[in-house]
Amino acid sequence: MSKRVVIFDTTLRDGEQSPGVSLNLQEKLEIAHQLARLGVDVIEAGFPIASPGDFEAVSAVAAQVKGPVIAGLARANRKDIERAAEALRAAEQARIHTFIATSPIHMRHKLRMEPDQVLEAAVEAVKLAKTFTADVEFSAEDAFRSDVEFLCRIFKAVIDAGATTINIPDTVGYATPQEYGAFIKTVINGTPNMDRATVSVHCHNDLGLAVANSLSALENGARQIECTMNGIGERAGNCSLEELVMALYTRKSVYGLDSSINSTEIYRTSRLVSNLTGMLVQPNKAIVGKNAFAHESGIHQDGVLKERTTYEIMNPQMLGIFTNNIVLGKHSGRHAFRERLKELGFELDDEKLGKAFARFKNLADRKSEITDEDLVVLVEDELRAV
Ligand code: KIV
Ligand code: ZN
Repeated sequence: MSKRVVIFDTTLRDGEQSPGVSLNLQEKLEIAHQLARLGVDVIEAGFPIASPGDFEAVSAVAAQVKGPVIAGLARANRKDIERAAEALRAAEQARIHTFIATSPIHMRHKLRMEPDQVLEAAVEAVKLAKTFTADVEFSAEDAFRSDVEFLCRIFKAVIDAGATTINIPDTVGYATPQEYGAFIKTVINGTPNMDRATVSVHCHNDLGLAVANSLSALENGARQIECTMNGIGERAGNCSLEELVMALYTRKSVYGLDSSINSTEIYRTSRLVSNLTGMLVQPNKAIVGKNAFAHESGIHQDGVLKERTTYEIMNPQMLGIFTNNIVLGKHSGRHAFRERLKELGFELDDEKLGKAFARFKNLADRKSEITDEDLVVLVEDELRAV
Protein backbone atom coordinates (compact mmCIF):
# COMPACT_ATOMS: atom_id res chain seq x y z
CA MET A 1 0.00 0.00 0.00
CA SER A 2 1.21 3.50 -0.84
CA LYS A 3 3.06 5.41 1.86
CA ARG A 4 2.02 8.73 0.37
CA VAL A 5 -1.00 10.63 1.70
CA VAL A 6 -2.87 12.77 -0.84
CA ILE A 7 -3.64 16.18 0.67
CA PHE A 8 -6.97 17.44 -0.65
CA ASP A 9 -7.44 21.03 0.46
CA THR A 10 -11.01 22.31 0.68
CA THR A 11 -10.33 25.73 2.26
CA LEU A 12 -11.95 27.42 -0.74
CA ARG A 13 -15.05 25.21 -0.66
CA ASP A 14 -15.89 23.74 2.78
CA GLY A 15 -13.66 26.37 4.45
CA GLU A 16 -15.54 29.15 2.72
CA GLN A 17 -18.75 27.62 4.10
CA SER A 18 -17.67 28.91 7.55
CA PRO A 19 -20.42 31.16 8.85
CA GLY A 20 -19.62 34.77 8.00
CA VAL A 21 -16.89 34.04 5.46
CA SER A 22 -17.16 35.23 1.87
CA LEU A 23 -14.07 35.56 -0.29
CA ASN A 24 -13.99 37.54 -3.53
CA LEU A 25 -12.41 36.27 -6.74
CA GLN A 26 -9.05 37.96 -6.16
CA GLU A 27 -8.83 36.61 -2.61
CA LYS A 28 -9.67 33.08 -3.75
CA LEU A 29 -6.98 33.26 -6.41
CA GLU A 30 -4.45 34.53 -3.90
CA ILE A 31 -5.22 31.64 -1.55
CA ALA A 32 -5.17 29.10 -4.39
CA HIS A 33 -1.72 30.25 -5.55
CA GLN A 34 -0.46 29.99 -1.97
CA LEU A 35 -1.95 26.49 -1.60
CA ALA A 36 -0.03 25.50 -4.73
CA ARG A 37 3.19 26.83 -3.16
CA LEU A 38 2.33 24.92 0.02
CA GLY A 39 2.31 21.78 -2.11
CA VAL A 40 -1.23 20.45 -1.71
CA ASP A 41 -2.14 17.71 -4.18
CA VAL A 42 -5.73 18.80 -4.81
CA ILE A 43 -7.43 22.19 -4.44
CA GLU A 44 -11.19 22.02 -4.18
CA ALA A 45 -11.83 25.47 -5.61
CA GLY A 46 -15.58 25.69 -5.02
CA PHE A 47 -19.07 24.51 -5.86
CA PRO A 48 -19.67 25.90 -9.37
CA ILE A 49 -23.47 25.51 -9.44
CA ALA A 50 -23.83 27.33 -6.09
CA SER A 51 -23.54 30.87 -7.51
CA PRO A 52 -22.15 32.78 -10.50
CA GLY A 53 -19.33 33.95 -8.19
CA ASP A 54 -18.38 30.38 -7.29
CA PHE A 55 -18.45 29.39 -10.96
CA GLU A 56 -16.20 32.31 -11.87
CA ALA A 57 -13.79 31.53 -9.04
CA VAL A 58 -13.46 27.84 -9.94
CA SER A 59 -12.94 28.81 -13.62
CA ALA A 60 -10.24 31.34 -12.69
CA VAL A 61 -8.42 28.95 -10.36
CA ALA A 62 -8.61 26.22 -13.02
CA ALA A 63 -7.13 28.55 -15.64
CA GLN A 64 -4.44 30.18 -13.53
CA VAL A 65 -3.23 27.82 -10.83
CA LYS A 66 -0.85 25.16 -12.08
CA GLY A 67 0.49 22.14 -10.22
CA PRO A 68 -2.30 20.74 -8.06
CA VAL A 69 -5.37 18.96 -9.40
CA ILE A 70 -8.29 21.43 -9.36
CA ALA A 71 -11.58 19.98 -8.12
CA GLY A 72 -15.12 21.30 -8.36
CA LEU A 73 -18.00 20.01 -6.24
CA ALA A 74 -21.27 18.80 -7.79
CA ARG A 75 -24.35 17.08 -6.40
CA ALA A 76 -25.22 13.83 -8.14
CA ASN A 77 -27.28 15.38 -10.92
CA ARG A 78 -26.74 16.40 -14.55
CA LYS A 79 -26.94 20.19 -14.08
CA ASP A 80 -24.39 20.31 -11.27
CA ILE A 81 -21.96 18.03 -13.06
CA GLU A 82 -22.16 19.87 -16.38
CA ARG A 83 -21.63 23.19 -14.58
CA ALA A 84 -18.62 21.82 -12.70
CA ALA A 85 -17.15 20.40 -15.92
CA GLU A 86 -17.58 23.76 -17.64
CA ALA A 87 -15.87 25.61 -14.77
CA LEU A 88 -12.95 23.16 -14.78
CA ARG A 89 -12.45 23.25 -18.55
CA ALA A 90 -9.14 25.16 -18.45
CA ALA A 91 -7.57 23.07 -15.67
CA GLU A 92 -4.30 21.27 -16.30
CA GLN A 93 -5.75 18.38 -14.27
CA ALA A 94 -9.45 18.50 -13.39
CA ARG A 95 -11.40 16.47 -10.87
CA ILE A 96 -15.18 16.36 -10.61
CA HIS A 97 -16.20 15.66 -7.03
CA THR A 98 -19.77 14.40 -6.96
CA PHE A 99 -21.71 13.51 -3.82
CA ILE A 100 -25.00 12.26 -2.50
CA ALA A 101 -26.12 11.48 1.04
CA THR A 102 -26.35 7.81 2.05
CA SER A 103 -27.47 7.84 5.70
CA PRO A 104 -31.10 6.90 6.50
CA ILE A 105 -31.65 10.26 8.17
CA HIS A 106 -30.45 12.24 5.11
CA MET A 107 -32.12 9.98 2.53
CA ARG A 108 -35.46 10.07 4.33
CA HIS A 109 -35.65 13.70 5.48
CA LYS A 110 -33.46 15.65 3.09
CA LEU A 111 -33.45 13.76 -0.21
CA ARG A 112 -36.77 11.95 0.21
CA MET A 113 -35.31 9.13 -1.86
CA GLU A 114 -35.17 5.36 -1.43
CA PRO A 115 -31.71 3.76 -1.13
CA ASP A 116 -31.97 2.20 -4.59
CA GLN A 117 -32.77 5.59 -6.12
CA VAL A 118 -29.73 7.07 -4.36
CA LEU A 119 -27.55 4.28 -5.72
CA GLU A 120 -28.83 4.81 -9.24
CA ALA A 121 -28.29 8.59 -9.04
CA ALA A 122 -24.74 8.03 -7.78
CA VAL A 123 -23.86 5.65 -10.62
CA GLU A 124 -25.39 7.95 -13.26
CA ALA A 125 -23.52 10.93 -11.80
CA VAL A 126 -20.17 9.16 -11.91
CA LYS A 127 -20.78 7.92 -15.46
CA LEU A 128 -21.62 11.44 -16.61
CA ALA A 129 -18.65 12.99 -14.78
CA LYS A 130 -16.43 10.41 -16.43
CA THR A 131 -17.35 11.76 -19.87
CA PHE A 132 -15.59 15.03 -18.88
CA THR A 133 -12.54 13.85 -16.93
CA ALA A 134 -10.83 10.61 -15.95
CA ASP A 135 -10.44 11.88 -12.37
CA VAL A 136 -13.78 11.46 -10.58
CA GLU A 137 -14.32 11.46 -6.83
CA PHE A 138 -17.49 10.15 -5.25
CA SER A 139 -18.51 11.12 -1.70
CA ALA A 140 -21.19 9.40 0.34
CA GLU A 141 -22.35 12.33 2.45
CA ASP A 142 -22.92 11.38 6.11
CA ALA A 143 -21.20 8.06 5.41
CA PHE A 144 -20.38 7.43 9.05
CA ARG A 145 -24.09 7.34 9.98
CA SER A 146 -24.93 5.15 6.97
CA ASP A 147 -25.64 1.44 6.87
CA VAL A 148 -22.30 -0.24 6.16
CA GLU A 149 -23.72 -2.82 3.76
CA PHE A 150 -25.47 -0.17 1.71
CA LEU A 151 -22.31 1.92 1.69
CA CYS A 152 -20.22 -0.98 0.36
CA ARG A 153 -22.85 -1.68 -2.30
CA ILE A 154 -22.90 1.93 -3.51
CA PHE A 155 -19.08 2.16 -3.46
CA LYS A 156 -18.73 -1.02 -5.51
CA ALA A 157 -21.20 0.33 -8.06
CA VAL A 158 -19.57 3.76 -8.42
CA ILE A 159 -16.09 2.24 -8.75
CA ASP A 160 -17.45 0.01 -11.53
CA ALA A 161 -18.85 3.20 -13.09
CA GLY A 162 -15.36 4.79 -13.02
CA ALA A 163 -14.90 6.62 -9.70
CA THR A 164 -11.18 6.87 -8.90
CA THR A 165 -11.46 8.30 -5.36
CA ILE A 166 -14.00 7.15 -2.79
CA ASN A 167 -14.62 9.56 0.04
CA ILE A 168 -16.12 8.37 3.35
CA PRO A 169 -17.03 11.54 5.27
CA ASP A 170 -17.91 11.98 8.90
CA THR A 171 -20.11 14.88 7.85
CA VAL A 172 -21.39 15.78 11.31
CA GLY A 173 -18.23 15.03 13.32
CA TYR A 174 -19.94 12.23 15.25
CA ALA A 175 -17.26 9.53 15.15
CA THR A 176 -14.60 8.74 17.72
CA PRO A 177 -11.11 7.74 16.56
CA GLN A 178 -11.16 4.00 17.27
CA GLU A 179 -14.67 3.60 15.97
CA TYR A 180 -13.97 5.57 12.78
CA GLY A 181 -10.77 3.64 12.07
CA ALA A 182 -12.66 0.35 12.46
CA PHE A 183 -15.44 1.69 10.23
CA ILE A 184 -12.98 2.60 7.46
CA LYS A 185 -11.43 -0.85 7.66
CA THR A 186 -14.86 -2.55 7.47
CA VAL A 187 -15.85 -0.48 4.44
CA ILE A 188 -12.56 -1.21 2.65
CA ASN A 189 -12.81 -4.94 3.36
CA GLY A 190 -16.49 -5.01 2.39
CA THR A 191 -16.00 -3.35 -1.02
CA PRO A 192 -14.47 -5.96 -3.31
CA ASN A 193 -13.11 -3.51 -5.94
CA MET A 194 -11.86 -0.84 -3.50
CA ASP A 195 -8.27 -1.56 -4.56
CA ARG A 196 -9.10 0.30 -7.82
CA ALA A 197 -9.73 3.58 -5.95
CA THR A 198 -8.01 5.86 -3.46
CA VAL A 199 -9.83 5.85 -0.13
CA SER A 200 -10.43 9.34 1.21
CA VAL A 201 -11.80 10.73 4.46
CA HIS A 202 -13.39 14.06 5.24
CA CYS A 203 -13.85 14.72 8.95
CA HIS A 204 -15.73 17.53 10.63
CA ASN A 205 -14.74 18.81 14.03
CA ASP A 206 -17.99 18.96 16.02
CA LEU A 207 -16.43 17.00 18.90
CA GLY A 208 -12.91 18.34 18.31
CA LEU A 209 -11.87 14.95 16.88
CA ALA A 210 -11.44 15.68 13.16
CA VAL A 211 -7.64 15.36 13.13
CA ALA A 212 -7.63 12.30 15.43
CA ASN A 213 -10.30 10.62 13.29
CA SER A 214 -8.38 11.38 10.09
CA LEU A 215 -5.18 9.90 11.54
CA SER A 216 -7.08 6.82 12.65
CA ALA A 217 -8.47 6.44 9.11
CA LEU A 218 -4.92 6.57 7.72
CA GLU A 219 -3.91 3.76 10.07
CA ASN A 220 -6.75 1.74 8.60
CA GLY A 221 -6.09 2.22 4.89
CA ALA A 222 -7.26 5.72 3.88
CA ARG A 223 -4.77 7.55 1.66
CA GLN A 224 -6.43 10.90 0.98
CA ILE A 225 -7.22 13.46 3.67
CA GLU A 226 -9.66 16.28 3.04
CA CYS A 227 -8.75 19.27 5.19
CA THR A 228 -8.64 23.04 5.43
CA MET A 229 -6.08 25.60 6.49
CA ASN A 230 -6.57 26.60 10.15
CA GLY A 231 -9.32 23.95 10.27
CA ILE A 232 -11.97 26.41 9.09
CA GLY A 233 -15.27 25.09 7.72
CA GLU A 234 -18.94 24.41 8.38
CA ARG A 235 -19.89 24.70 12.08
CA ALA A 236 -16.84 23.70 14.17
CA GLY A 237 -14.80 23.27 11.00
CA ASN A 238 -12.88 20.55 9.21
CA CYS A 239 -9.73 18.57 9.82
CA SER A 240 -6.90 21.09 10.11
CA LEU A 241 -4.30 20.67 7.35
CA GLU A 242 -1.38 21.94 9.42
CA GLU A 243 -2.14 19.70 12.41
CA LEU A 244 -2.59 16.59 10.28
CA VAL A 245 0.56 17.17 8.22
CA MET A 246 2.74 17.99 11.21
CA ALA A 247 1.46 14.96 13.14
CA LEU A 248 2.51 12.77 10.20
CA TYR A 249 5.90 14.47 10.02
CA THR A 250 6.68 14.71 13.75
CA ARG A 251 5.43 11.16 14.49
CA LYS A 252 6.75 9.52 11.32
CA SER A 253 7.81 6.52 13.40
CA VAL A 254 4.16 5.95 14.35
CA TYR A 255 2.47 6.48 10.96
CA GLY A 256 5.24 5.81 8.43
CA LEU A 257 3.50 8.10 5.92
CA ASP A 258 4.59 11.14 3.90
CA SER A 259 2.85 14.09 2.32
CA SER A 260 3.92 16.51 -0.39
CA ILE A 261 3.53 19.56 1.85
CA ASN A 262 6.35 22.10 2.01
CA SER A 263 6.14 22.80 5.73
CA THR A 264 7.98 26.14 5.52
CA GLU A 265 4.90 27.57 3.74
CA ILE A 266 2.50 26.53 6.53
CA TYR A 267 2.64 29.65 8.67
CA ARG A 268 2.42 32.01 5.71
CA THR A 269 -0.62 30.14 4.37
CA SER A 270 -2.26 30.23 7.77
CA ARG A 271 -1.76 34.00 8.06
CA LEU A 272 -3.04 34.61 4.54
CA VAL A 273 -6.20 32.56 5.11
CA SER A 274 -6.82 34.23 8.45
CA ASN A 275 -6.29 37.74 7.06
CA LEU A 276 -8.49 37.22 4.01
CA THR A 277 -11.32 35.32 5.70
CA GLY A 278 -11.26 37.47 8.84
CA MET A 279 -11.30 34.25 10.90
CA LEU A 280 -8.87 34.74 13.73
CA VAL A 281 -6.62 31.88 14.81
CA GLN A 282 -6.98 31.17 18.53
CA PRO A 283 -3.68 31.89 20.38
CA ASN A 284 -3.33 28.32 21.67
CA LYS A 285 -4.11 26.70 18.30
CA ALA A 286 -1.68 23.85 17.63
CA ILE A 287 1.07 24.58 15.07
CA VAL A 288 0.01 28.09 13.96
CA GLY A 289 -1.38 29.79 17.11
CA LYS A 290 0.47 32.79 18.48
CA ASN A 291 1.40 30.83 21.61
CA ALA A 292 2.28 27.55 19.90
CA PHE A 293 6.00 28.24 20.41
CA ALA A 294 5.82 30.75 23.28
CA HIS A 295 7.29 29.82 26.64
CA GLU A 296 5.95 31.53 29.72
CA SER A 297 7.15 29.80 32.84
CA GLY A 298 10.69 30.32 34.15
CA ILE A 299 11.41 26.60 34.15
CA HIS A 300 10.35 26.26 30.51
CA GLN A 301 12.26 29.37 29.42
CA ASP A 302 15.37 28.13 31.16
CA GLY A 303 15.01 24.71 29.52
CA VAL A 304 14.47 26.10 26.03
CA LEU A 305 17.40 28.51 26.35
CA LYS A 306 19.66 25.61 27.28
CA GLU A 307 18.28 23.27 24.63
CA ARG A 308 15.27 24.07 22.41
CA THR A 309 14.02 20.50 22.23
CA THR A 310 13.38 20.33 25.99
CA TYR A 311 9.97 21.90 25.39
CA GLU A 312 9.60 22.09 21.60
CA ILE A 313 8.73 19.01 19.56
CA MET A 314 8.88 20.92 16.28
CA ASN A 315 11.28 23.58 15.06
CA PRO A 316 9.20 26.73 14.38
CA GLN A 317 11.51 27.60 11.48
CA MET A 318 10.34 24.45 9.73
CA LEU A 319 6.89 26.04 9.64
CA GLY A 320 8.19 29.36 8.35
CA ILE A 321 7.84 31.01 11.76
CA PHE A 322 10.36 33.73 12.61
CA THR A 323 10.57 34.96 16.16
CA ASN A 324 11.07 38.53 17.35
CA ASN A 325 9.37 40.88 19.75
CA ILE A 326 9.22 44.23 17.94
CA VAL A 327 5.61 45.27 17.54
CA LEU A 328 4.67 47.15 14.38
CA GLY A 329 1.25 48.78 14.21
CA LYS A 330 -0.66 51.62 12.59
CA HIS A 331 1.43 54.27 14.35
CA SER A 332 4.70 52.92 13.03
CA GLY A 333 6.58 54.99 10.49
CA ARG A 334 8.26 54.17 7.19
CA HIS A 335 11.71 54.04 8.83
CA ALA A 336 10.78 51.34 11.35
CA PHE A 337 8.99 49.49 8.58
CA ARG A 338 12.06 49.57 6.31
CA GLU A 339 14.38 48.48 9.16
CA ARG A 340 12.14 45.56 10.09
CA LEU A 341 12.00 44.42 6.46
CA LYS A 342 15.79 44.56 6.29
CA GLU A 343 16.02 42.32 9.35
CA LEU A 344 13.65 39.93 7.63
CA GLY A 345 15.89 39.88 4.55
CA PHE A 346 13.96 42.24 2.24
CA GLU A 347 15.80 45.14 0.57
CA LEU A 348 13.15 47.04 -1.37
CA ASP A 349 13.71 50.01 -3.70
CA ASP A 350 11.82 53.22 -2.88
CA GLU A 351 8.91 52.52 -5.21
CA LYS A 352 8.28 48.98 -3.94
CA LEU A 353 8.79 50.08 -0.36
CA GLY A 354 6.17 52.82 -0.84
CA LYS A 355 3.62 50.32 -2.16
CA ALA A 356 4.37 47.76 0.54
CA PHE A 357 4.12 50.50 3.18
CA ALA A 358 0.70 51.54 1.88
CA ARG A 359 -0.49 47.92 2.13
CA PHE A 360 0.98 47.70 5.62
CA LYS A 361 -0.95 50.80 6.71
CA ASN A 362 -4.17 49.37 5.30
CA LEU A 363 -3.64 46.14 7.17
CA ALA A 364 -2.70 48.03 10.35
CA ASP A 365 -6.08 49.78 10.22
CA ARG A 366 -7.77 46.38 10.47
CA LYS A 367 -5.33 44.60 12.80
CA SER A 368 -3.81 46.08 15.94
CA GLU A 369 -0.56 44.14 15.85
CA ILE A 370 1.32 43.30 12.66
CA THR A 371 3.57 40.31 13.07
CA ASP A 372 6.71 39.44 11.10
CA GLU A 373 4.76 36.69 9.38
CA ASP A 374 2.16 39.24 8.25
CA LEU A 375 4.99 41.38 6.88
CA VAL A 376 6.51 38.47 4.97
CA VAL A 377 3.17 37.59 3.37
CA LEU A 378 2.49 41.23 2.54
CA VAL A 379 5.91 41.95 1.02
CA GLU A 380 6.07 38.73 -0.96
CA ASP A 381 2.63 39.44 -2.39
CA GLU A 382 3.80 42.93 -3.33
CA LEU A 383 6.94 41.58 -5.00
CA ARG A 384 4.89 38.99 -6.90
CA ALA A 385 2.42 41.66 -8.05
CA VAL A 386 5.24 43.59 -9.78
O1 KIV B 1 -19.09 17.14 4.95
C1 KIV B 1 -19.33 16.56 3.88
O2 KIV B 1 -19.84 15.43 3.84
C2 KIV B 1 -19.02 17.26 2.64
C3 KIV B 1 -19.19 16.50 1.38
C4 KIV B 1 -19.72 17.34 0.28
C5 KIV B 1 -17.88 15.83 1.01
O3 KIV B 1 -18.55 18.37 2.67
ZN1 ZN C 1 -17.74 18.83 4.72
